[in-house]
Amino acid sequence: MGWVHRRRDLGGLIFIDLRDRYGMTQVVVNPAQAEAFEKAERIRSEFVLAVTGTVRVRPGETRNSNINTGDVEVAVTEIRLLNPAKVSPVQVSDYQNVEEGLRLQHRYVDLRRPSMTQNIILRHKITKAVRDYMDGQNFLEVETPTLVSSTPEGARDYLVPSRVHPGSVYALPQSPQIFKQLLMVSGMDRYFQIARCYRDEDLRADRQPEFTQIDMEMSFCGQDDVLGVVEGMLAHVFRTVMDVEIETPFLRMPYHEAAELYGSDKPDLRYDMRFHNVEEFLSDTEFKVFKSALENGQSIRAMVLPGQALTSRKIQTELDETAKGHGLGGLFFVGRNEDGSLKSSILKHVGEEKLLALLTAVKAQDNDLVLISAGEKKLLQAGLGKLRVDLAKKYDLADKNKFSLHWVVDFPLFAYNEETGAIEPEHHPFTSPHPDDVEYLDSDPLKARAAAYDLVLNGNEAASGSVRIFQRELQEKVLGCIGLTLEDARAKFGFLLDAFEYGAPPHAGIALGLDRLVAICAGQDSIREVIAFPKNASAYCPMTHAPVVPSQEQLDILHLKVEHPASE
Ligand code: AMO
Repeated sequence: MGWVHRRRDLGGLIFIDLRDRYGMTQVVVNPAQAEAFEKAERIRSEFVLAVTGTVRVRPGETRNSNINTGDVEVAVTEIRLLNPAKVSPVQVSDYQNVEEGLRLQHRYVDLRRPSMTQNIILRHKITKAVRDYMDGQNFLEVETPTLVSSTPEGARDYLVPSRVHPGSVYALPQSPQIFKQLLMVSGMDRYFQIARCYRDEDLRADRQPEFTQIDMEMSFCGQDDVLGVVEGMLAHVFRTVMDVEIETPFLRMPYHEAAELYGSDKPDLRYDMRFHNVEEFLSDTEFKVFKSALENGQSIRAMVLPGQALTSRKIQTELDETAKGHGLGGLFFVGRNEDGSLKSSILKHVGEEKLLALLTAVKAQDNDLVLISAGEKKLLQAGLGKLRVDLAKKYDLADKNKFSLHWVVDFPLFAYNEETGAIEPEHHPFTSPHPDDVEYLDSDPLKARAAAYDLVLNGNEAASGSVRIFQRELQEKVLGCIGLTLEDARAKFGFLLDAFEYGAPPHAGIALGLDRLVAICAGQDSIREVIAFPKNASAYCPMTHAPVVPSQEQLDILHLKVEHPASE
């Protein structure tokens, strides 16, 4: 039984590729089976059939080694049409690139496409491997509630109005963060959950309004224990699901090093292109750009673009424009002419000797192009970081078959929000300060590092976690740093602060983005490809039309009145 993938009429016989989630089977209908043949003539793609017949080995020349069942076929004696099907705008066989809105509207058909079915199967296998591993490590899977008071992770909450408490709302959890910490206070010791999380934030290819975390928390342990569990879990997942061996332990890179070398807190290390400080080679030139940059305390960095020494002026101008789009002042290039001699707009100003020394220092090969830019250090790093990602895409520098995993550790505890002037938690407010930096909480909070860590997979933030605060006093102090009065803190998180006084063990944890992990393993650019029923980029479901306008009766029951914004 299955779906008609394709019907072909050949030499008096009718061939049907019958498809289900396990694959495809060729069905042959001979005109001698008159009743079946007549039905087969009226069959189209995506009809649902049951066929009866004999499985036989295909004649030698018609065998198809490309598919698992290519050596056999079913010689049909009976066909039952279980259900006909209309022609869907999303074709399963002969699939052409279909607009995503249509795919999401007819998702039940879209999911029949073998590549989509494979993504969903892969997701299942990864989730199962995670569960098996965590169970083997003595973790308990505990469900935490999804009608909660706010669990802040830096996004806006989705709210659910309460009927029984007019005017009050539940928030959908942005993560199980507070509950998993409370489970540690309960002595659960090792918790995990495949947890659904909800965040009202701007959507991108790697963000959905509801998504799934592999969430975990451990007691009586610190950073090393958490990183070790995640490394073991991922090694198990990659080995059992994909037969890929990944090297553990993963590299650990301090946050400041990631910023200085790659201009990112999630550098893709499948390619190098790190930044080099080249100020010593350019400090005593008369060239105005470098001279005034250094006089003003700015920085100069170089980056090596492999294999592009001979790029044309036109491409260099394009790269320069891209760089300016990322807030950089501009780029200077050092490349080569066909005869191998140096080619650079700064050759005259800097001189061959210094440029050659610079090329040696940045380890540029003869066929590499060196890009140089000057500017205020943070802007320079951020701009070059974005350019680095663009260039890797443009020149296809990342090996698509490679999985590059590393940690970024020692994040700052707080970030300064330029727009609001507020100090915000870099991770979330329950993250412990780095043990060496607690003193900065009083003197200079922005200087404090956190005991927080991120896992980077091929340049994506795959996981984020931290050692937690487990003492009331320190928690109140950190909440104070982000502008909460003691009263606010107690009103919002009083239950957690109280819990810390009833025997809270030291604890730490992390959460991986399951959708991102599966998407990367499936080689997909968007997490929508590995979610059965995702929302589109405006958080809308083209199939069910959610979110929908509630009826007046529903509003009345919830004691709600809607005021439409004037613009609508
Ligand atoms: P964080 O907010 O960093 O940490 O989330 C953890 C991981 O979840 C994934 N993720 C998302 N995936 C898809 N769509 C989204 N909108 C989305 N937002 C986040 C990312 C991210 O690394 N409670 C903490 C974890 C902890 O401290 O234990 C938390 O939620 O892969």
